[in-house]
Amino acid sequence: MTAKIIAVFNQKGGCAKTQDTMQVAGELGLRGNPTLVIDMDIQGTGSIWSSNAPSSKPFPATVISLASAGVNMRNELFKHIKNYKYILIDCPPAIDSQIPWQALLHSHLGIIPVMPDPANIWASNLAIDLARKAIAERELKRADDSQIPPLKVAILPSRVGRGTAYKICMEQITTDGDIKAMKSMLSDRIAYAESQLLYTCITAMAPKSAAANEVRSVVDEILKLLK
Ligand SMILES: Nc1ncnc2c1ncn2[C@@H]1O[C@H](COP(=O)(O)OP(=O)(O)OP(=O)(O)O)[C@@H](O)[C@H]1O
Ligand SMILES: [Mg+2]
Repeated sequence: MTAKIIAVFNQKGGCAKTQDTMQVAGELGLRGNPTLVIDMDIQGTGSIWSSNAPSSKPFPATVISLASAGVNMRNELFKHIKNYKYILIDCPPAIDSQIPWQALLHSHLGIIPVMPDPANIWASNLAIDLARKAIAERELKRADDSQIPPLKVAILPSRVGRGTAYKICMEQITTDGDIKAMKSMLSDRIAYAESQLLYTCITAMAPKSAAANEVRSVVDEILKLLK
């Protein structure tokens, strides 16, 4: 087993990086996949979320914090790569920290959660610029060694994925060609925050809910992107 690695990143704070990471990781775990979340944020949102889960009902994915390792996370990451099927890296809202760059260097897929409001546009364009550089770097490596997997990058609409605000936002962020918006998304629902407050994920807490259906669709789309 060698893990498929997913980096979740954006310069924008609060755009749902951790929410998306934890819901996707939880569902991957519930499907029987050994799944690891690497929390790279000193805020420790994902680590706190899972570490407060009761031992009788652990969070369905393992969560570790490597925030103190910073850009030296690489060695730690490689220690875990054979033990998990999926590793998600939850990045801090700091593109210039080099952490998203390091995460992308080792990833199969980069996910950029984008919330449609004006403050997200600048931040998301920074994330997309970084993604393009990482894709270009990967292609250079692949020219020497075709066994190296390509880096795919997708935008995950966050909380609002339609309407005028979304349309304006998507026109102003530089999506095209290889970096497209995903069709599925987690919309704005209190159920997500509730599952976080109960230290679980929505597909474990309320598997028949509309929110759980959304998560399963996002996971299905991610698995297709990883093929
Ligand atoms: N789809 C959603 N519906 C409702 N609330 C959401 C949704 N996604 C995220 N939130 C809430 O928005 C807030 C910010 O989300 P989150 O912590 O995932 O953002 P973040 O990008 O990881 O932030 P940071 O940059 O600080 O790490 C949290 O309170 C979270 O519960
Ligand atoms: Mg976060």
